[in-house]
Amino acid sequence: MPSKKFYIFAVILISTALLFSGSLLDRKFSKLNSTQGKASVVEVVYPEEGKIISFEPSRPIEQNPQNLNIIQEDQNTKDITPLAEKKDEDPPKKKVIPFSCLTSEKEYDDMWLFNLGQNISLPDTTYIPKGLEKIPNIYSARTNICLTHDTLENLEAMLSQAKIDGHIIKVTSAFRTFDYQTGLLQTATDNGNSDANLSIAKPGYSEHQLGTAVDLSGESINFSSADRAFNYTEEAKWLEEHASDYGFIESYPKDKTDITGYIYEPWHYRYVGIDNAKQILKNNQTITEFLAE
Ligand code: DAL
Ligand code: ZN
Repeated sequence: MPSKKFYIFAVILISTALLFSGSLLDRKFSKLNSTQGKASVVEVVYPEEGKIISFEPSRPIEQNPQNLNIIQEDQNTKDITPLAEKKDEDPPKKKVIPFSCLTSEKEYDDMWLFNLGQNISLPDTTYIPKGLEKIPNIYSARTNICLTHDTLENLEAMLSQAKIDGHIIKVTSAFRTFDYQTGLLQTATDNGNSDANLSIAKPGYSEHQLGTAVDLSGESINFSSADRAFNYTEEAKWLEEHASDYGFIESYPKDKTDITGYIYEPWHYRYVGIDNAKQILKNNQTITEFLAE
């Protein structure tokens, strides 16, 4: 039979054990009970077990930066850093500079109806038109290309009607600077295209520098740019029939290559205004012939 002393000793031992485990649990969870933080999931580290337990608090918790340090208090230093500190260590976010079309400090006369051709250049080859605007992505096969305000307004009307009629047409090239045109011609020449000047204007001679000319392509040829295949598409046919209603005219038609000096470019249209476009069609002229009158 165990003695009385034994019973007393056993009771003290069991009580101490219960008290100890209770305070341990309290230590682990007391902070969580008062948790107030932004995170919807709280992580608790049990140092002695080296485990992290995540759970969702039963009620929404308010943001309180102090409590973001809970993890730090209960951990053994290892690889878990307080969220507040992590914020400081994050690499600086990259600045995204919004695209804007080129503008010029210099004042130029408006050249939108200037007569350009194989042998007629801009009077000032640094010309940049005023008020260039970015073509919305739905009408452009490329990002960040620009046109003058009136050109863009009429282009949008034209391409949205084309869409209604079942043709997805997009711009593949629009305003080009003198330097960009230089690069285009240079690249073509470097690639062994000895006739490059029949399809690419010399810098300072391109209608693209006016901000009123576009190269167009269609969904049926996967918006392939300056591609002869465009000639045989329904989209090209639609443009031939309707472009003048929106003030656009083919600059380099099929039967006028001897006059324009450029190959047939069914994709290249220039905005000249609705009345001028109708007149040019009616007279069966090229833009150059019309503007030379
Ligand atoms: N493709 C036309 C001629 C231009 O380069 O402007
Ligand atoms: Zn073009």
